[in-house]
Amino acid sequence: MARMAAHKIIIDTDPGQDDAVAILLALASPELDVLALTCVAGNVPLDLTTCNARKIAELAGRPDLPIYAGCDRPLARPLVTAEQVHGASGLDGPDLPEPSMPLAKGHGVDFIVDTVRREAPGTVTLVAIGPLTNVATALTRAPDISARLGRIVLMGGAHFAGGNVTPAAEFNIHVDPHAAKLVFACGAPLTVLPLDVTYKALVTPARTTAFRDIGTPVGTAVAALTDAPHRHNTEKFGAPGVPLHDPCTITYLLRPDLFRGRHINVEVETGSDLTLGMTVADWWGVTTRAPNATFLTEVDADALFSLLTERLARL
Ligand code: BDR
Ligand code: CA
Repeated sequence: MARMAAHKIIIDTDPGQDDAVAILLALASPELDVLALTCVAGNVPLDLTTCNARKIAELAGRPDLPIYAGCDRPLARPLVTAEQVHGASGLDGPDLPEPSMPLAKGHGVDFIVDTVRREAPGTVTLVAIGPLTNVATALTRAPDISARLGRIVLMGGAHFAGGNVTPAAEFNIHVDPHAAKLVFACGAPLTVLPLDVTYKALVTPARTTAFRDIGTPVGTAVAALTDAPHRHNTEKFGAPGVPLHDPCTITYLLRPDLFRGRHINVEVETGSDLTLGMTVADWWGVTTRAPNATFLTEVDADALFSLLTERLARL
């Protein structure tokens, strides 16, 4: 029987502890062909996100993976970072060596444009798990790529869950709302994993123990990565665990059947100081605005964590 070709993806990322787990999950999954990581400023500045991405690739035994530096600041606003969640390094928790692999030559945005233009139409998925600056810059510079992209799968936004950096906004959208607005309007098929779904994918102490019990350097590192933000989250939000935001995107590519949501219209607020970066999701269909995003709100969390643990054990 002929083997199905692996699904080509580019991961646009700002590692970030949960970004790191998403990258490891993707690299552990034979169904996915990770063409490159493109880094963006977000959780921490660009010099740290590019360093962290390389640490993770080396941890996964993939020093050959192309990793590009992308945009170092949002389109129209100063950078807001999240060291209070991810630590000063962006990757607090595990003790990972400084990377020795070099960054790939060139700019991450050029890589996205060139790759989507070169590959067959509909075959490349862009997985965006940081602020959308690189993605929006690519779409603005090369509007033709929106019709060639297979899909954009992004972690960002919220509807029922409110926000995590302001009462109204989720971090990735809030950091670069102008970029997010361009992405939601670009016309490419869009799947959104907002806080509504990621708040249901909680790393509890038992799930961290399962990572540690893998007994490999990757298992130990992921246990440390997911343990570190635990205190922040329990103290601030009173949740029984840490939401594992970004790995929801990769899990969705592997097992879309684990998720539920609706195809609806989602617009991004860029004008109001009070609600800047809010994703205004027409969940109830009360406007005539055309649907532009599949907005997911439910996940089978036990199945997600079983899959994740099983895959991480392969690295
Ligand atoms: C998002 O913000 C970042 O801190 C995480 O890496 C995730 O992408 C969650 O709001
Ligand atoms: Ca992220």
